[in-house]
Amino acid sequence: MDEISLIRPDDWHLHLRDSPFLEAVVGDSARQFARAIVMPNLVPPVRSCADALAYRERILAALPPASRFEPLMTLYLTDNTRVDEIRAASESAHVYGAKLYPAGATTNSDAGVTDLERLDAVFDAMQKHGLVLQVHGEATEPGIDVFDREKVFIERSLERIRNDFPALRIVFEHVTTRDAVDYVLAADANLAATITPHHLLINRNAMFAGGLRPHHFCLPVAKREEHRQALVAAATGGDPRFFAGTDSAPHSRAAKESACGCAGIYSAHSAIELYAEAFELAGDFEQFEAFMSRHGADYYGLPHNRERIRISRRDWQLPDSLPCPDGELVPFRAGDRLRWKLDADG
Ligand code: NCD
Ligand code: ZN
Repeated sequence: MDEISLIRPDDWHLHLRDSPFLEAVVGDSARQFARAIVMPNLVPPVRSCADALAYRERILAALPPASRFEPLMTLYLTDNTRVDEIRAASESAHVYGAKLYPAGATTNSDAGVTDLERLDAVFDAMQKHGLVLQVHGEATEPGIDVFDREKVFIERSLERIRNDFPALRIVFEHVTTRDAVDYVLAADANLAATITPHHLLINRNAMFAGGLRPHHFCLPVAKREEHRQALVAAATGGDPRFFAGTDSAPHSRAAKESACGCAGIYSAHSAIELYAEAFELAGDFEQFEAFMSRHGADYYGLPHNRERIRISRRDWQLPDSLPCPDGELVPFRAGDRLRWKLDADG
C-alpha cells in the first residue's frame, strides 16, 4: 500500500495563538485540516462569546487566500464564568465548547479554574444546553508528581464531575496514560478523548535523549513506553471515542530553549504525516480514516468533510525550522525523515 485516500481530517485540539504568531502558523493547519477546535488560551483568554467571535474573525482574516479552513471556537472557563455566557455559547453557530484549564496546569492557564466546585452551576448549564466541556486533565496541587497528574485528575476531579453531571459531554484532551485510555473505555459515550501525534510517537525518554530536549517538552508530559503503547492501541483500535487532536502549540525557539522553557510541541506543519507514521509503526491503517476524519465529527455532531485527501509513501525531510515572529519555530521531528507525505490534491 503506497497511497491512502481519506476524507480530509479535522484537528480537534489546536493552538493558533494571536497575531503575529497566528499569521505564521494558521496556513499549516489550513493546508492539512478542514476544521479545528481552536483553544482559547490567549493572553488575555477568550472568555466570552464576543471574544470568541472576534478571535474567529482574526483567524479568518489571517488565512491564506481561498482557504476554506473553518475554526471552531471555544471559551476559556474561569472562576467567574457566568451561566448566561454558557447559554449564549450554546446558541452561537461558532462556539463548540468550553475549555477547563485547572489554574497553573499549563501554558497560559493562570486565569484558569482554582476550585472546580465553583463551576458546578456552569457544568450544570453546559449539561443542560449540550455544550461540550474540553478538559485539560491534570491535577495541579504542588505535591503531585508531574507524571501522575493525569491519573490523579481522573480520581479526584473527573470522576466527580461525571458522577454529578452524567449528561455532560466531555472531551478528555490529549490523553497520555493507560489510565486515561482505560477510564474512557469504561465510561459511556459522553466521554471522548483526543490523542496527539507526539504522544503516539515518543515516550518520556525522548526528553532526555543524550541531553535535555526542550522540543519534546509539552503538557501533559510524555509518559513511559507502556502508556504510549496504550495510546497507540486506542488510536488504532477503532473505538469512536478516540480521535485526532494535535495540540500543536507553537512557541519560538528562544522561548523553548531557555532555562525555563515553555511547554508545547509544534506539529501542525506535518500533522497528518506524523499520525500516518504512528499508524505505520503500529502496522495497522484500518482505522486511520475513522480516527482522523470521522470519530471527532461524529462526537461533535458535525458532518464529515466532503473533500478527500491523499497521502503517499514518500520519504521526505522535515525542515530544521520554520519562520515565526520571534525568530524561528522548531517543528516536531525537525530535520528527521518521515515516510508519508500529504499530496497537494486528493
Ligand atoms: C499548550 C500551549 O502552549 O498553549 N502547551 C502544551 O504543552 N500542550 C497548552 C496545553 O494544551 O496544555
Ligand atoms: Zn492544548
